[in-house]
Amino acid sequence: MAKAKTAYVCSDCGASTTQWQGQCADCGAWNTLTSFVVEPASTSKGAAPAAARHGGWAGRPDAAGITALRDVSQTAESRTSTTIGELDRVLGGGLVDGSVVLVGGDPGIGKSTLLLQALAQMAAQRPALYVTGEESLAQVAGRAQRLGLPIDNLHALAETCVEKILAQAASAKPAPRLLVADSIQTLWSELLTAAPGSVSQVRESAARLVRFAKETGTSVFLVGHVTKEGGIAGPRVLEHMVDAVLYFEGESGSRFRVLRAFKNRFGAVNELGVFAMGDKGLREVPNPSAIFLSGSSTAQPGSAVMVTREGTRPLMVEVQALVDASPLSNPRRVALGLEQNRLAMLLAVLHRHGGVVTGDQDVFVNVVGGIRVQETAADLPVLLAVLSSLRDRPLPEKTIAFGEVGLSGEIRPVPNGEERLKEAATHGFRRAIVPRANAPKKGAYKDLEVIAVERLSEALDAAAG
Ligand code: TYD
Ligand code: MG
Repeated sequence: MAKAKTAYVCSDCGASTTQWQGQCADCGAWNTLTSFVVEPASTSKGAAPAAARHGGWAGRPDAAGITALRDVSQTAESRTSTTIGELDRVLGGGLVDGSVVLVGGDPGIGKSTLLLQALAQMAAQRPALYVTGEESLAQVAGRAQRLGLPIDNLHALAETCVEKILAQAASAKPAPRLLVADSIQTLWSELLTAAPGSVSQVRESAARLVRFAKETGTSVFLVGHVTKEGGIAGPRVLEHMVDAVLYFEGESGSRFRVLRAFKNRFGAVNELGVFAMGDKGLREVPNPSAIFLSGSSTAQPGSAVMVTREGTRPLMVEVQALVDASPLSNPRRVALGLEQNRLAMLLAVLHRHGGVVTGDQDVFVNVVGGIRVQETAADLPVLLAVLSSLRDRPLPEKTIAFGEVGLSGEIRPVPNGEERLKEAATHGFRRAIVPRANAPKKGAYKDLEVIAVERLSEALDAAAG
């Protein structure tokens, strides 16, 4: 066997070099290069190429692996239901065989609970192995029992050495077709000297599990903890190595949890699954619109309801703003669940094109329920909430709004306007302030009055009632 070499990988961008440097040559970050051992390349004796039969590349020994795409036999990806509808939805319609899914989230958010529930129920159909590096087998068994899960077919392994895990999985009878590794930060490879949890160990362990999944067709879930910065601890390359990255989000104190696809080779990204944590584990919330409204029956100053469309379904969410005279020379702008810079930009547009001054005010904006809204359709409701708080006057009752606000004060259309309006009508809203291009023909909705606006000033007038 050839000698193993050492390489250095940047924990920020994942670039690798053969020599240690203080600064990453790719992304410029300092002190981010850590060593890891590169496995010697195995000499592959692949199958004879089909390319030789075709013109062009024929007879070129260096192009031996090249194949005309039309000759590649296609196999439709086969999917298995996880038995949890919301999880299936986020995965793009079930778990693809042989895929590797990284589930990230803060400690205590419910990653282990979700995967244990899914695995125990899926184990009825196919052999499943739960590898725990954080909890003891007794803890896992205790939790499964408390949750009332069917555990007859579920097998577990308390092990952190990735080579041992793979050896056990390979020799198990029947061989597991599903595997959960909880968590990737606890795994380590014998090849490396670095401590478990270090960038090189996380990367190497994940690489081995990915290879195992692809070679055996086993579906693998990797659990990853999120660092303070919001990324999954370890190199960003982890996100590139796996087929799907799901983030589990939620506010501490709230029982609702949102599972979001951040990357998915087999489905839409930004698809949301909504769960509620209870004493029997995670329960699905099939109609999540209702839970993100604050529940107050009368309109409050500083509150605006919007219809967002994350993934493939519309969702009603409430945006709250608090605007208060600031004692600071540099007033605060705090956005929770929204992008901070966008809030600053919107306040500038509100000043310039709406004549509303907030320069001497602290502005806090929050999306109710701990959900994060990334799309620009939140612009208009954010400004309406800010204005409502500033004036201490609620918006007209049962009003929703959505729309992107441009730098010149124009209200721009957003995708799927019809669907959003329909959702608002379903939930009994009476009035919608929307971009003109999103407005349907007059009278399209019986009980929902649609107010089409083109400029910010028109929207502010409409909101004043
Ligand atoms: P867990 O799945 O261990 O989180 P993670 O693996 O993401 O770190 O979830 C632990 C939290 O969930 C813990 O704070 C208790 C809570 N919980 C419930 O409220 N009900 C339950 O039935 C279970 C199993 C956990
Ligand atoms: Mg856990």
